[in-house]
Amino acid sequence: MSVDDPKRAVGETAADLVQSGMIVGLGTGTTAVWLVRALATRHLDIRCVPTSQATAVLARELGLALTDLDDVREIDLTIDGADEIGPDLALIKGGGAALLREKLVWEASRRCVCIADASKVVQTLGAFPLPIEVVAFGHTTTLRRITGGLADCGILTAPRLRQKDGAVVITDSGNLIYDASCGAILDPVSVEAALKSITGVVEHGLFLGLTKEALIGTRLGVERLGPRDFKDLSNG
Ligand code: A5P
Repeated sequence: MSVDDPKRAVGETAADLVQSGMIVGLGTGTTAVWLVRALATRHLDIRCVPTSQATAVLARELGLALTDLDDVREIDLTIDGADEIGPDLALIKGGGAALLREKLVWEASRRCVCIADASKVVQTLGAFPLPIEVVAFGHTTTLRRITGGLADCGILTAPRLRQKDGAVVITDSGNLIYDASCGAILDPVSVEAALKSITGVVEHGLFLGLTKEALIGTRLGVERLGPRDFKDLSNG
């Protein structure tokens, strides 16, 4: 079994949820790529709202019809990956730097389905560094406030400015990302409130209460998870 097999399986299973006539939010990341590929083979009459430039490019290449978030009243179904899936389907997202557009699309959706392989399921959020998107102007000042806000939540960390291939990462919306290695986020609601209160923070990667469904690719097939039936799938 290749590492891609569980991602492919959940992408294809999730594509089965999509029906002609729907407005569909398309996630970002390697798992979402499988969803986009599966959707493209089905020739459905759908319009898609991509959560990143990368997803938009792929979807367009594969012939999916795209639309803008501002051109739709509501999105019927959004399907997207995650970096960590904790109890109650609380998520960390943003490993692919698309957290802001992802959250805008998720919050505009009637139904959101998270797709991931079993390695993403955790007992406590926070081993994956929490992405925090900030405006570039004054970002080191904002960083000091982020560090203080997290410390007030009991999290002592020095968030790192995200870089890739030696260059600072700029998001699709022209912002920067700091990744905060939190270790364990025992009270995600307090962390969310603390980060949201800081001027200069555009968004953070905690997705709390935004989905009631996850499809998890395991060695044995695709498992469906709801908020109440958390299982330890970390061994895949
Ligand atoms: C993108 O910003 C993230 O929220 C992704 O959804 C997340 O990183 C999952 O990516 P993979 O499917 O590649 O693990």
